[in-house]
Amino acid sequence: MNEIDTDTCLLAEPTQTNVASVEPRVISAAVVGGTGYAGAELVTILERHRGVDLVASWSSKFTLDALDHSRPEVVFLATPNEVSADLVPAMLDRGIRVIDLSGAFRLHESALYPHWYGFAHSRPELLQEAVYGLTEWCNGELKTARLVANPGCYPTSILLALRPLTFILDRDQAVICDSKSGVSGAGKKADLDWSFAEVAGNFKAYGVGTHRHEPEIRQGLRLGQRAPLVFVPHLLPTVRGILSTMHVAFAHTVTDAEIASLFTEAYAKAPFVKVLPAGKLPQLKSVVNTPKAEIGWQLLHGGKRAVIVSVIDNLLKGAASQAVQNFNRMYGWAETEGLQ
Ligand SMILES: NC(=O)c1ccc[n+]([C@@H]2O[C@H](COP(=O)([O-])OP(=O)(O)OC[C@H]3O[C@@H](n4cnc5c(N)ncnc54)[C@H](OP(=O)(O)O)[C@@H]3O)[C@@H](O)[C@H]2O)c1
Repeated sequence: MNEIDTDTCLLAEPTQTNVASVEPRVISAAVVGGTGYAGAELVTILERHRGVDLVASWSSKFTLDALDHSRPEVVFLATPNEVSADLVPAMLDRGIRVIDLSGAFRLHESALYPHWYGFAHSRPELLQEAVYGLTEWCNGELKTARLVANPGCYPTSILLALRPLTFILDRDQAVICDSKSGVSGAGKKADLDWSFAEVAGNFKAYGVGTHRHEPEIRQGLRLGQRAPLVFVPHLLPTVRGILSTMHVAFAHTVTDAEIASLFTEAYAKAPFVKVLPAGKLPQLKSVVNTPKAEIGWQLLHGGKRAVIVSVIDNLLKGAASQAVQNFNRMYGWAETEGLQ
């Protein structure tokens, strides 16, 4: 992996406004994976969105013939990674824009896919074209994007909290991201580890050093290959929501005022990101079932280190509502359309 990634989206300054340069119009849209956890949330939002004519919602019975019959202008893919990797080229070749909720197009380097995702890309050039849709850190590129790679749920919670601080981090010390997710993060598939009897009244870590979101977090923080990153996902005995606790060290001693100023600069005009006052930490119940993220911090050791805490709903800001934020930016609708 390169030291500096080529993600124009994340190299940009955070967006301060959602300036609509085109007149919003109603767009014909379809969902593949509408019977899944993330896809069902998406369908609910799109059905009430004034700028969307939802022409179809498909499940695993989806065929390209059905697509050719419905001819949507944009397709949301809420499908497994390998399915998205197969479907995206077919859709782009038909002139259809795609917002993909899977991880199939989030990483820029195709060489990472066999190791982290277990498959090789047939169209690796699309990894360079895909816009990484962490909406608050995107600018004009969403307006022209053919392919948006919607961020993962854990990376959304971590990158929103750490991106504003990237330039003051001590790169020699590990960034430790300790994240906890509700069970819906794994989708609706049956799996013993995610079954009620295993999860209820229980709490455990999993996937340390092997979770697919690790290279996405590394890429999003522009850590390169060498800077130490520790990502520890945990399974919470709840249905939905992610709470991430980040332990960071700074290159110089910082104050609460400096941290507050960096967060304000990043998110003053972001409708779905709320930054709490210094020393106040967020909790899951503030964001579950909402499209919002909340971020708080506590300085430690005289300002040399901090604990940053963020919360999101994995199925909304971590998936469906962020996809709709990206749709709104692509087509010039207000960022909040369909989400309030
Ligand atoms: N869950 C989360 O919190 C979350 C957050 C961010 C991103 N994501 C990503 O979003 C995607 C969907 O996740 P999920 O949790 O909603 O999964 P899920 O609950 O398992 O749903 C998967 C959906 O994909 C459909 N599908 C499976 N194989 C297909 C095929 N060959 N062709 C067309 N459709 C097919 C399923 O249809 P059937 O009903 O017919 O099986 C179902 O609608 C995944 O890539 C996931 O990584 C999930």
